[in-house]
Amino acid sequence: MIKILLHTVSLMLISGHVLATEVTPSRQSELIHLLKQDCGSCHGMTLKGGLGPALLPAQLEGKSTNYLVTTILEGHPETAMPGWKTMLSDDDALWLANQIKQGIQ
Ligand code: HEC
Repeated sequence: MIKILLHTVSLMLISGHVLATEVTPSRQSELIHLLKQDCGSCHGMTLKGGLGPALLPAQLEGKSTNYLVTTILEGHPETAMPGWKTMLSDDDALWLANQIKQGIQ
């Protein structure tokens, strides 16, 4: 009986954790807006490049998700690429990295 209870509690904890780390649909649309407007001011509204390099799947092929997340959060020192960690959580950055890798519409 206690075992079943413990099992239920840990399942609840696990699913709670998964929910907490998800990027909600409303946050997703904020992030797409940020990507097009703010990132787009340097990388181009369609991410084809400008002051910053293109952020299209072809250019990002072979670059690790970890590299992209670190770049987004920390920026590239000595370049125009700023770090975004005051505005973006780790999950936000991961979600954005996956978006640019697969290409946004
Ligand atoms: C003020 C201009 C500017 C803004 C705003 C900006 N970037 Fe950048 N970004 C750059 C520059 C310049 C580089 C190239 C840095 C270098 O030479 O290492 C870069 C590099 C990158 C790279 C690495 C690309 C590669 O092929 O290695 C990624 C990923 C990236 N930016 C994502 C973003 C995202 C996502 C945002 C918005 C949250 C953003 N950037 C906003 C200027 C900017």
